[in-house]
Amino acid sequence: MPKILIRKAKKEYVKELDKEVTISKPRYYFVEDPAKDYHTSEGIVTKKDLKKKDGSLVKTNTGKEFFVFSASFTDRYRKIKRLPQIIPLKDIGHIIAETGVGKQSRAVDAGTGSGALACFLGHLVKEVTSYEIRKEHADIARENVKNLGLKNVKIKNKDIYRDIDEREIDILVLDLPEPWNAIRSAEKALKVGGFLVSYSPTIPQVMDFANTISSNPKFIVLKTIEVIERNWDVYGRKVRPNSSGIGHSGFLTFVRKIS
Ligand SMILES: C[S@@+](CC[C@H](N)C(=O)[O-])C[C@H]1O[C@@H](n2cnc3c(N)ncnc32)[C@H](O)[C@@H]1O
Repeated sequence: MPKILIRKAKKEYVKELDKEVTISKPRYYFVEDPAKDYHTSEGIVTKKDLKKKDGSLVKTNTGKEFFVFSASFTDRYRKIKRLPQIIPLKDIGHIIAETGVGKQSRAVDAGTGSGALACFLGHLVKEVTSYEIRKEHADIARENVKNLGLKNVKIKNKDIYRDIDEREIDILVLDLPEPWNAIRSAEKALKVGGFLVSYSPTIPQVMDFANTISSNPKFIVLKTIEVIERNWDVYGRKVRPNSSGIGHSGFLTFVRKIS
């Protein structure tokens, strides 16, 4: 089981400035293989120390201190091999909360890409089938699934615009260049009451998807949203939005099969 080494930032009061300044930055290391000594930029943590129980304070050979604990699913998920674009956590969180998928749910997603969404769903639901048209992407996704130890995620190297083999599924998530071309497949695969979620980075894609599906009597469009995550700095009375910009990821359109 991978481990995390973590340390808080250290601050010190500087009299001349009459304020606290950061003297050492927070650090976070992901230790893939705790059976070996781990080399950080601030010295080595021994494998013996990496075996210590969660919450132990360990020191590198240069005296730098870290807390050690077991990596969570999200720590491990963050280390997956990535192709250029994956759905960010803020959007995954929203998909899960809006649709209420859980231990009994059967999910399909497409395209797989690096399998980020498929893996996260696999961590939560009963089974996931993911469709990917490009073999090299499907291979990377399979590697990610294996590295995360997920046994319930199947990657199919197939074109979802043509068909979906599964039936009576609870949720279908589309992250595709032309999601409207998958509506016919979705109609057959989803159970009544199931959710179809389309994630698209641009508004023309949202328009074409929403306009096409609105004219289909089997579906009802619930809403289209953009989830904006804004980070804040909170330190003492210095509380303000972080100066780094708010990046755009994509729009989520939630649809339900009604008959
Ligand atoms: C933006 S990526 C998906 C990222 C993925 N949701 C993730 O979280 O890692 C889009 C993927 O869709 C695949 N794709 C495009 N058309 C497809 C189709 N008709 N059927 C299946 N996959 C397709 C592309 O090859 C690409 O890998």
